[in-house]
Parts: sequence; C-alpha cells; structure tokens
Amino acid sequence: MKPSSLILILSACASLPAWAQPPVQPRAPGIESKGYVWNKPDKEKTVALSRSGDPAKGKELYRVCQGCHQDNGAGKSDADYPQLAGQHVTVLIKQMVDVRSGRRDNPKMHPFIASEVLSPEDMADVAAYLNSLPIPTSNAKGDGKHLDRGKYLYEKDCAGCHGEMGEGDAVKFYPLVASQHFDYLFYEVEQIRDGGRRNANPKMVRVIRKYSDSDLRDVSDYMSRLPPPVGKTASARQK
Ligand code: HEC
Ligand code: HEC
Repeated sequence: MKPSSLILILSACASLPAWAQPPVQPRAPGIESKGYVWNKPDKEKTVALSRSGDPAKGKELYRVCQGCHQDNGAGKSDADYPQLAGQHVTVLIKQMVDVRSGRRDNPKMHPFIASEVLSPEDMADVAAYLNSLPIPTSNAKGDGKHLDRGKYLYEKDCAGCHGEMGEGDAVKFYPLVASQHFDYLFYEVEQIRDGGRRNANPKMVRVIRKYSDSDLRDVSDYMSRLPPPVGKTASARQK
C-alpha cells in the first residue's frame, strides 16, 4: 500500500479539505458502447495477473476491506456486499481493475481500490489472500420454493460457463457462484439483464435477457445453495 493510502481512506469517511478528498470513480465505456470487448487486455490487469501474489501481504492490505466484506470474506447479504472468500484470483483481479477503471460502477468501494491506493502488485496479493480463504456456507439463500425450476434453468443456460456445481473457471475469468449470497446474485443478474453491470459478458447477457424476474430469483436461489467445491468449505479447512 502506498503511504498516501491512510489519508485517502480516512478522507473517504470524514469531510476533509479538497486536496485530501478520496478519488472519484471514473467512467469508462462498457457494454452499452459500440465495439465493447469483454475482458480486453489492460496494462494493470496484465501486471497483476503475472504476479503469484503473497497472501500474507494480502491479509494486511485486506484490513480496509473488512468493514464491508467482513474479516472472513463472507460479505453481508443485507447490504449486497458479495462473499469474496475462495473466489478465483483472475476473477478478483478483473473485477478490481474494472472498478478502478470505471467499467463496473461502484463509487462506494472505489476509494478503497483506486490506483492511488493499491498498486497492481497489491491487487495480486489481496486476490491471493481472498482465494486462500475457506468459503462460508452461512450465505443467505432464497425462499427455496422453486428450486426445480432454478436447477432446470441453471443447467440449461449457465452451467456451460459457471460449471455444473457453480465452481466457475479461473482460466476463463468465469466467477464461482456457488454459496454466494442470494440477494447479491439476484441483484447482479438483474443488473446483467438490464444493462447496469457494464463489464458483463455479452454472451451471458444474450441468455439472461429473456429471463423474467421470477426466473432470475429461482436461478439465484439455486446458485446460492450449491455447495463450495470439495476442500474449499469453511468446515473442511478448519483445524
Ligand atoms: C464501502 C464498502 C466496500 C468496501 C470498503 C470494499 N468493497 Fe468490495 N464491494 C462492495 C460492494 C457493494 C460490491 C458489489 C458491487 C456491485 O453490486 O456491483 C463489491 C464488490 C467487490 C468485488 C467483486 C466481487 C464479485 O464477485 O464480482 C471485489 C473483488 C471486491 N469488492 C474487492 C474489494 C477489496 C479487495 C476491497 C478492499 C481493498 C473492497 N472490496 C472494499 C463494497 C465494498
Ligand atoms: C458465456 C459464458 C457465461 C454464461 C452462459 C453465463 N455466464 Fe454468468 N458470468 C460470466 C462471466 C464471464 C461473468 C463475469 C463478468 C465480468 O467479467 O464482470 C459472469 C458473471 C455472473 C454473475 C456475477 C457473479 C459475481 O460474482 O459478481 C452472476 C450472478 C452470473 N454470471 C449468473 C449467470 C446465470 C444465472 C447464467 C445463466 C442464466 C449465466 N451467468 C450464464 C459468464 C457466463
């Protein structure tokens, strides 16, 4: 973390003079723009992805994230803070870079992740730490009323990319969705369908565009109940 970080983080919380104001999230063209290319190469992303990442350093850097994402990376369902524990390193880095550059709108988180605060090497360290965390299964689930329909839709339209068990694909930057909070999943699929998630994958948008609100709810409920990949659950890691 750079020396100026503390000032930036403090200024995110208090009203300080203009020179100490937190960096405002920029806006970069996303899926709404012509010629949008998903996961286009980017200098910072290339540097961060080329590093192996030091989880011990990442743990220190993660302190500023805990207020929202919790010390165990479990997030908070009622505030739509996603669970980050066990997520693929590639996915974590891509999402951080997209927020920094303004392709994924998240003005609340931006001051904590801005390039003034974290270097590409720091992002690799945080991602390595988060990936090493066991995945809690205390995540929020849906009402469980239409799981058959959720399973049907998921296996037909989503499993080809996100995996039969929601494990995602690190090489392809496809997120792990198993045991993610229901509320977050539902919010994201709505945003993906309606164009609010501007860094989305166009092939996925074509599939989700036809979904009704109840389809989105059912598929999100199903994903929230998929167990974490073997060996990645919180209980499997506890000594
Ligand atoms: C002020 C609260 C807040 C803080 C602090 C915060 N985040 Fe976030 N973060 C969020 C929210 C809210 C989202 C989901 C935004 C959305 O719905 O698109 C998110 C999303 C993410 C995602 C995307 C997850 C996914 O599955 O796509 C990553 C990665 C992430 N945060 C990492 C971090 C890291 C690393 C830090 C600390 C350096 C941090 N966040 C600090 C609120 C926060
Ligand atoms: C062509 C591959 C593909 C298909 C098919 C697909 N997805 Fe995705 N999905 C992705 C990618 C890639 C991302 C990450 C997008 C980005 O880079 O921000 C993603 C992101 C998501 C997210 C956000 C996860 C997070 O952590 O923020 C959810 C939820 C999701 N997909 C649900 C679904 C559902 C439900 C379906 C089926 C109806 C589906 N996806 C079909 C590739 C796919």
